[in-house]
Amino acid sequence: MAKVYTSASDEEIIKRIQNKGLGLRTSTSTPKWPILRLALTRSLKFSTPPDEGLDRRDSIGSEYSFEQLTGQDNKAQPEDFTDLFCALLSVYHNENLFGDDERYAKYLQRHIRRGLREFATSWRESHDFHEYLYQELLSDLRQSAQTISDKPLDQSSIESALRDIGVQAEIRQIQEGARLTRYRLYLADVNDRDRLNKGLQKLGFILGLGNQGALSSGTDESRTMNLDIPRSSEAWQRFSGAELRTWLQNRNSEWRLPVYPGVDVMGDPFDFDLAEAPHLLVGGTTGSGKSVTLHALLISLLHSCSPADLQVCLIDPKRVEFNSYQGIPHLYANQVVTNAGDAAEILGHLVAEMGIREEQLVKAGVRDIDEARRSHRLNLPRIVIFVEEMADLVMQNEEIESLLVRLAQKARSAGIHLVLATQRPDAETFSGLLRSNIPSRIALTVQKASESRIILDDHGAELLLGRGDMLVRLIGQPIKRVHGVYVTIDDIALAVKTVKGRT
Ligand SMILES: Nc1ncnc2c1ncn2[C@@H]1O[C@H](COP(=O)(O)OP(=O)(O)O)[C@@H](O)[C@H]1O
Ligand SMILES: [Mg+2]
Repeated sequence: MAKVYTSASDEEIIKRIQNKGLGLRTSTSTPKWPILRLALTRSLKFSTPPDEGLDRRDSIGSEYSFEQLTGQDNKAQPEDFTDLFCALLSVYHNENLFGDDERYAKYLQRHIRRGLREFATSWRESHDFHEYLYQELLSDLRQSAQTISDKPLDQSSIESALRDIGVQAEIRQIQEGARLTRYRLYLADVNDRDRLNKGLQKLGFILGLGNQGALSSGTDESRTMNLDIPRSSEAWQRFSGAELRTWLQNRNSEWRLPVYPGVDVMGDPFDFDLAEAPHLLVGGTTGSGKSVTLHALLISLLHSCSPADLQVCLIDPKRVEFNSYQGIPHLYANQVVTNAGDAAEILGHLVAEMGIREEQLVKAGVRDIDEARRSHRLNLPRIVIFVEEMADLVMQNEEIESLLVRLAQKARSAGIHLVLATQRPDAETFSGLLRSNIPSRIALTVQKASESRIILDDHGAELLLGRGDMLVRLIGQPIKRVHGVYVTIDDIALAVKTVKGRT
């Protein structure tokens, strides 16, 4: 009978989960097959099929029989999941796998190994494995299971809910935004501001908003605040790649690196100059929309800047996000970097490049690359470094963090900018030194207020709506809520085709 083969590194993650994650509850050691089944489930959540590279048999790994894995012909196991697994994989791959045992086994192995690899890169022993799985496997379900109504709530129910949390307020204006309704509140007392901020979760509960609650923000008038109440997702106004392309036609021509992550609460395009940021952290739980946000920023830049003005360095340890950009003329070193070793190497090159640029600037007698360009003495392209899953890379290779810190500290005048995406920034992977040098932040939805504080230095991101809903804090500016533009694979392909065609 066919078997599923794993590699030595697959076995390592299985052991880690056995020891730390699942093993705690039982006195005897946990069998391995439940972990492999969870890995299969995790892999099926990716929209692209797993790599053929996972077919390889590794002499120092392990092998699993189908009796163990699927309960096939196993008298000791009460259930046989063979048909179920085969049906799942047939649907996923759009192929009839019933009767083709060899292909079925192949796909099963690819998925299990990809799932294990995903566990290895995204689960850390400091996080409870069950909690992690809950977030990874159920995050979309949780987000769609909202109970929010699609009509704006009437004024009196909001005012009464406010009274329930001890806030005396009068609603002075109601505005329909893209995903939510904004109520402009006039507070009876300045202390109501604090009571409102503290009582938001309870307010959301009273109004039946489910997990995604109401958010408040200050206005320029002292006793006036905005209360934003979400509508159900069916009633959202959506913004796509087509809108992004229109906005880019009308971009601010003074800006060096114009980017559009999405729209503000009222549905107006929100843009900023990444050159002023000058570095950006994008944080949020899995499925919150980090990668889509990165694509929106990247497409904005590719559209606005020629390869002579802009190079992008793309680092993506999961290999899924940046592959489509292979071959674009803006690509630094002509490659998308997909592993920690290469990432350390290319970041090392960039540190060296920064040093060379600094010398060139001194020689030309100018302060930074903008001055150099204006005086026509030097024409250096800006370099924007995009890093997906920063925490994974930092955990895999110690050098990477110090390279990122060096770049963040000094790259501004040399025209080198960082955009770092990460799931769960914590002291280990987003240290004080890196934090203080990455001043601009985008927080997508997170699980807890404490995570919001790490990303944003403020709470609030735990109340966001998912799917690209974000809080943006640019250097020296108040926090702003933005709904992300939804960039798809087709939009990326179009952008890539356009820039390739231009040269
Ligand atoms: N701006 C958006 N509008 C609507 N849906 C979105 C948006 N951004 C993300 N999503 C949805 O969320 C999913 C996960 O987004 P992704 O960027 O891959 O998350 P992450 O990188 O944080 O794991 C997407 O496949 C899409 O279905
Ligand atoms: Mg992602």
